[in-house]
Amino acid sequence: LNLSRERPAADHETVRVDLPARGYDILVGQGLLAEAGRHVGAVAKGRRCAVVTDEAVAPLYLDAVRASLEGAGLNAEAIVLPQGEHTKDLRHLGDLADRLLDLRIDRASILVALGGGVVGDIAGFAAAIVLRGIDYVQIPTTLLAQVDSAVGGKTAVNTRHGKNLLGAFHQPRLVLADIGTLDTLSSREFLAGYAEVVKYGLLGDADFFSWLERHGAALCEGDSAARRHAVVTCCAAKAAVVADDEREAGRRQLLNLGHTFAHAFEAETAYGTTLVHGEAVAIGMVMAFELSARLGFCSRDDAERVRRHLAERGLRVGLEGLADASWTADGLLEHMAHDKKALGGALTFVLARRVGEAFTSSAVEIGIVRAVLEDALDA
Ligand SMILES: NC(=O)c1ccc[n+]([C@@H]2O[C@H](COP(=O)([O-])OP(=O)(O)OC[C@H]3O[C@@H](n4cnc5c(N)ncnc54)[C@H](O)[C@@H]3O)[C@@H](O)[C@H]2O)c1
Ligand SMILES: [Zn+2]
Repeated sequence: LNLSRERPAADHETVRVDLPARGYDILVGQGLLAEAGRHVGAVAKGRRCAVVTDEAVAPLYLDAVRASLEGAGLNAEAIVLPQGEHTKDLRHLGDLADRLLDLRIDRASILVALGGGVVGDIAGFAAAIVLRGIDYVQIPTTLLAQVDSAVGGKTAVNTRHGKNLLGAFHQPRLVLADIGTLDTLSSREFLAGYAEVVKYGLLGDADFFSWLERHGAALCEGDSAARRHAVVTCCAAKAAVVADDEREAGRRQLLNLGHTFAHAFEAETAYGTTLVHGEAVAIGMVMAFELSARLGFCSRDDAERVRRHLAERGLRVGLEGLADASWTADGLLEHMAHDKKALGGALTFVLARRVGEAFTSSAVEIGIVRAVLEDALDA
């Protein structure tokens, strides 16, 4: 007889982000929304809590999160923002800040960001600046947010000069990645997040990429064990990079694999719905491998392997059907240069020696990049 046996531990795994004085846990599993109160309560300094979410996520998950927070004795008020990238601007940030202050939050209050990367980025930035900084928790509900934006403490809004140009490094106190929330994601948004999952394999984990070649189909079709394994693996990879280079002075730049190209395509499509971020990253990673092959750093076979896997999963891997006559290689190069000028750096490319081994270079000859773009536009 074993009456004293504890209830089985919650169905989740824990990844630690190891930062001096600012370390935190990422919990990945099923059913975490319903346990949010217990986990948030454990890191909260006070009892007051503001849940920031968007109008698509609110009807799906806000009640469950609020009920759990209130069940744990937290006072949970909600702020619902419009959905979409346009919410990540100064006007919505100012409004969000005022609404937080309307709720009489104080330095002991905790903010909960419930949603995708848009909510996580603007709510995280609000947490960084309201009252000179309050604690926050990320509850990411998109695949992209679970594997990327919710981890690492980069927060930002966009300005008319470009994306993410106003922001702060502000680490969350906790990340709750409930993979059950991925079930309601559109297949398009799921696939866009999948491109970022593939990124972790390509930049530093060949075994994980091979695993994705075998299990990616099941993962995309809803297999929860596969989803959980992928989210845990990506969070562990991001946590290691962030712990090593919190402010992106070096190794963290590898996370930008495919992104120099991607940002040009996103700019060309005016950050609209023609191409969402992850979709642009998929094309960008194919081009980064193409560029690496042309420069003699990686094999043709590896470049082809990357293209094949992304295409098999249903992602766009080239500009066919996307670019119209107004797209030019020089126009795309200009977007890249503008992006870098805004950040005050040289045009840096993340290149690859093989699947699973990426490196950065600021010495890529622009003529070769132009040729890659021209060939993609001609295809
Ligand atoms: N801070 C970082 O390190 C970092 C890293 C990568 C990307 N980002 C940012 O993340 C943003 C993109 O994030 P995203 O792709 O999550 O976009 P998003 O937040 O716009 O979410 C995509 C759409 O899915 C909806 N949604 C969210 N969760 C849902 C769910 N569970 N079920 C149904 N619908 C749901 C949202 O309302 C939205 O319409 C960009 O602004 C990008 O700049 C930040
Ligand atoms: Zn990205």
